[in-house]
Order: sequence, then C-alpha cells, then structure tokens
Amino acid sequence: MWTNEQRYRRFTDQLPGEIEELRGKVSSSPWRQSFHIQPDTGLLNDPNGFSYFKGEYHLFYQWFPFGPVHGMKHWYHMKSSDLVHWEEAGLALEPESYFESHGVFSGSGLAHEEKLYLFYTGNTRDDDWIRTPYQCMAVMDKNGEISKFKDAVIKGSPKGYTEHFRDPKLWKAGNFFYAVIGAQRENLTGTALLYRSENLREWELIGELQIDLKEFGFMWECPDYFDIGDHGIFLFSPQGLEADGDLYNNIYQSGYMAGSKLNLETGVFTHGPFLELDRGFDFYAPQTMLAPDGRRILIGWMGLPDVEDPAAEGGWSHCLTIPRELSFLNGKLLQQPVKELESLRGAKAEIKDVLADGHKEYQSFTGKTYEMILEFENKSAVEFGVELRTRHNEKTVVKYTDKEKKVILDRSLSGAPAGVEYGTVRKTRLESHRIKLHIFVDVSSVEVFVNDGEEVFTSRIYPSSDSEGIRFFAAGGEANFKAVKWNY
Ligand code: FRU
Repeated sequence: MWTNEQRYRRFTDQLPGEIEELRGKVSSSPWRQSFHIQPDTGLLNDPNGFSYFKGEYHLFYQWFPFGPVHGMKHWYHMKSSDLVHWEEAGLALEPESYFESHGVFSGSGLAHEEKLYLFYTGNTRDDDWIRTPYQCMAVMDKNGEISKFKDAVIKGSPKGYTEHFRDPKLWKAGNFFYAVIGAQRENLTGTALLYRSENLREWELIGELQIDLKEFGFMWECPDYFDIGDHGIFLFSPQGLEADGDLYNNIYQSGYMAGSKLNLETGVFTHGPFLELDRGFDFYAPQTMLAPDGRRILIGWMGLPDVEDPAAEGGWSHCLTIPRELSFLNGKLLQQPVKELESLRGAKAEIKDVLADGHKEYQSFTGKTYEMILEFENKSAVEFGVELRTRHNEKTVVKYTDKEKKVILDRSLSGAPAGVEYGTVRKTRLESHRIKLHIFVDVSSVEVFVNDGEEVFTSRIYPSSDSEGIRFFAAGGEANFKAVKWNY
C-alpha cells in the first residue's frame, strides 16, 4: 500500500538510487511496448499539451514517476517531427507553487506568437485533504525552456460548482482565446464551462456549454472542442454512465457529440447523440490537435483510472494510443491511423484465400509487433475473423458475427487477466458483408480500426511472450479474405 507521503513527492525529491532501481525492475517487464509512448518508470495517464510548435509535434503526458500508482502528477515531454518517432524531452512541469502543491494535472497547449502556451490544472489539497483546483499557465520558448506564470489565472471553482473543475483545453478563434474546462455542478452532475480571454491572463466565464443532455454522469473530464469543416465536435470523458447493452462497458467513457459550430458568444451547442469514440477495453481522456497540414489528430490514454493493470508488477503502468486522424462523414467521426505510421513498416507478407469452417495459419503470419490489414468478404459464414497472439489456449479474438451483425473483441483468453469485473468481451453493431480490419499489434496492446475507421477497438492485452501465432477462421460457411502484414 502506498501512503500519501510516498505518493505526494516531486521528481526532484527522489531518494538516492530510487529511480535507477525502478528502471531495473521496468527493464525486466515482459510487457514493455515497442512503438507506443510509455513511461520510463511509474504511471502514465492522460495525453496533455498536444501541439505543433517550431516545426515539431509536442506531446506531454501525466506522469507519476515513482511507481505504477496515481500520486503527485508531473508533465513529461515528448517531441517528434513525424508523430511516430518520439524523442524524450524529459520532465516538463513539476509541482513547485502553492497553486499546484498536489500535482500538475491535465491541460493543453497552443502555439501563439513564438511561444507554446500550456494551460493546465494545479491540484491542491489542504491539511484536511480538501481539494482546491487552480487553472495555471506556463510558456515554452523556442529553446524548450518552460516558465510558469507567477500565479494561477483562475483560482478555485466558480460559484455553483464543486472542487472537480479541471483539464482546460485551449484554442483561438478571432480575437479571443477560448477554453473548455471539465466541471461538476453542486448537484453532482458533470458539465463543461466555456471561458474566454483576450490575453491568456484574464479569463471570463461565458457559462456552461448549453447542450441537450441534462444529466450525463457525475463529472466530465478532459473536454475538447474543435471544428471539422462546418461541424462542431465536443469531445469529453464522462464519468458515471451506467452500462447499457454494448455501450458504456468500461468504468468511465470517452466520446463526442457532433453538431453545428459552437456559438462562442453564448455557449449554445446544437448537437446529435453522444457517441463513444472507442469500443475497446482501454481508452480514456483523448486529446486532439490541429496539424500544420490541417489534419485533426487524436491521441488517447490506453488505460483507465481505477482498473488493475498486470504490467504494474513491473514498476510501470499504461501507454498512449497511436495517433489517429479524424474526419467527419454521415454524422460521425471516422478515425484512421496517421499515414506516417507507414514508416514503421518492415518485412511484408501477403495472402489471399477462402476460409471455410475452421482455422487456418500461414507462413510469415506470426509475430508480436506488426501492422495488418484484413479484408473479409462474407459469402455464407455465420462468423469469421482472426485470432492474434495465439499459442495453445491463448488468443485475442477479433471477429464478425453475421447473426448479430456485430464486430467483437474478445480478450477472455488473451493472457494475464485485466479488469475482468468489467467483462472480457466488447461488441459493436455494424452491418456489412465486407469487413476490413486494420490492426496494430504491439507487445501488450492491440488497436483495431474497422471499415476505415468507422469503429475502433483499443485494448491492452497481456499474453505470454511466445504467443506469436495468427489464426484466421470462419464458421458455418465461407468467407473470402485478403491479408497483408508488415512487421514492425
Ligand atoms: C483524467 C484525469 C484528469 C486529471 C488527471 C490527473 O484521467 O483524472 O481529470 O486532470 O487525470 O492525473
């Protein structure tokens, strides 16, 4: 058990040899990833400050350095010229002042006048462990030097809202800067507040985002607002939704509502239904940024709060998803892996075959880290799909059942169990006799993009290191299929 004294320490206050010892433990973890962003030691959670500045992508993440638990949060900094090869730029923000005594919490970044502005929540607790949130600003210059504003720019929660007020997402429109901030009303329901500023220092509350959902969970974390073409997208991570059939099966959710552009004077947002962004077991607190070529790119935390992680015994926990490009079609966001990932492609293998009642394996179709595109055309099968990371009984199954017209991810036999109290199967409805699965497998994760990003399933899996098989199958009839795979 971790005591508060152990959890609430700054990176600077590490004990001699503490981090080196932890690194040793981490290096023998069987589940270290190969092409995903993961912490050197300790726990990673939300992506923060995702932005483009001075010719590079910048991405920070919530980090507790000393072990696989939530404690004093820092911002760790990564940068990249292509969204794929990331360089560790080191510790970026560590708690220093009264307004962030118990953690530098989540926030966002915006390049403006030769500087990268970082807008984040300072978490504080008093002696009775009562929380007061502060919204704070830091600035990074072109040399990567970061300095914080002397004082917080929004102190405490506005009247009518509880201590749960955090995660500012910043953008600029016209002559103003805007931010949406996650909040909880005094009646314990979640919402987001819209703020405006002319100078990034003084912030004026416009009001709650005016939407059609009256009660939707007890808190909304990590809100994000952006336009795609003529559409407005409001994305957030609501906590406290009850599971409803195939929906909302994880402990907390992440999704969006699409509508017309947000009215920035009034906060009125006219929108469609709440849609989950991801159907997998491990996805939360995503954040988007606008790339210089106009693409809207999203990265999420491949993990969730309050769910056990088998990798934790190795002294670290969680990773980020691969970056996804968002587009909008027929009232819905489509998510596609960014094209830059193709630079990771190594040896290629291809196959074209017919599956009929049973399993098939092929030469070169094995591995632990790869990208694979499968195209199935169903003829008469009741179900068909693929088993990944297989050996003996172990397998991670991605399949389509024609009876239910559903895509299914089953990690019941994926290896070390994780979060089984939230179930081991995820499903989503999709009606098509052509099913395309674009799959990214890393040492301890799988990301499946279905039918060009109509649906995505993101999950950690914890197989044995020698579970490297890939088995294709159909049942009850025939399905044509093509596969291409690149080793990573
Ligand atoms: C979401 C979250 C944020 C908060 C951060 C703390 O996972 O709880 O609301 O700012 O994590 O690490």
